[in-house]
Amino acid sequence: MSPVQTSTAPTTALAVDYRQPTADDGERLWEIASDSKVLDVNSSYSYVLWCHDFATTSIVAEVDGRPVGFVTGYRRQTDPSTLMVWQVAVDDSCRGHGIAGTMLHRLFDRCQRLGVVAMHTTISPDNVASQRLFESVANARGLRFERRDLFAADQFPDAHEPEDLYLLEPELVEP
Ligand SMILES: CC(C)(COP(=O)(O)OP(=O)(O)OC[C@H]1O[C@@H](n2cnc3c(N)ncnc32)[C@H](O)[C@@H]1OP(=O)(O)O)[C@@H](O)C(=O)NCCC(=O)NCCS
Repeated sequence: MSPVQTSTAPTTALAVDYRQPTADDGERLWEIASDSKVLDVNSSYSYVLWCHDFATTSIVAEVDGRPVGFVTGYRRQTDPSTLMVWQVAVDDSCRGHGIAGTMLHRLFDRCQRLGVVAMHTTISPDNVASQRLFESVANARGLRFERRDLFAADQFPDAHEPEDLYLLEPELVEP
């Protein structure tokens, strides 16, 4: 993940539908990730597989029947009450309309019914847009928003920013 510093104010209301992905969406998700010029672009196979195997923890936003954004996530194996968000992207033409925030809220709502109470993600230090996005979701849901070191740049074999862990968690209640 790296920085997206241009946020455009919405000029028109978009009619957006939100739904679980299917394997047929994998190709378009790969395209949106590639077009973002920001995300790590994984193989097309990984997006098709993800949409097939992790559909319940992922979401697609579409306009006029065409996906314009997605969130891919999974429940941590060691703690299924935590939804780990892998990637979020919205097509450049549809940014600034609240689509990313709505996808995260709707996905969180859906996963809460499965027992999820917290959301984690990793963000590179220079990706202000992503930090703001998750902070906004945390604030709206009354969740604690915390950053921790996770992966250092020298853990990656290629040129890659560090990836910090961001936690959106219920406030700790003193016993
Ligand atoms: C980051 C991204 C997903 C945001 O999508 P979006 O639909 O435009 O975001 P939203 O309109 O839902 O905005 C959600 C919040 O983030 C903030 N935000 C969004 N883009 C921002 C930017 N470029 N700079 C600062 N804040 C930004 C909004 O102000 C909003 O905050 P608010 O709720 O307090 O008003 C989109 O810019 C994108 O796809 N970027 C490329 C991929 C990427 O960086 N993904 C994140 C890392 S995986």
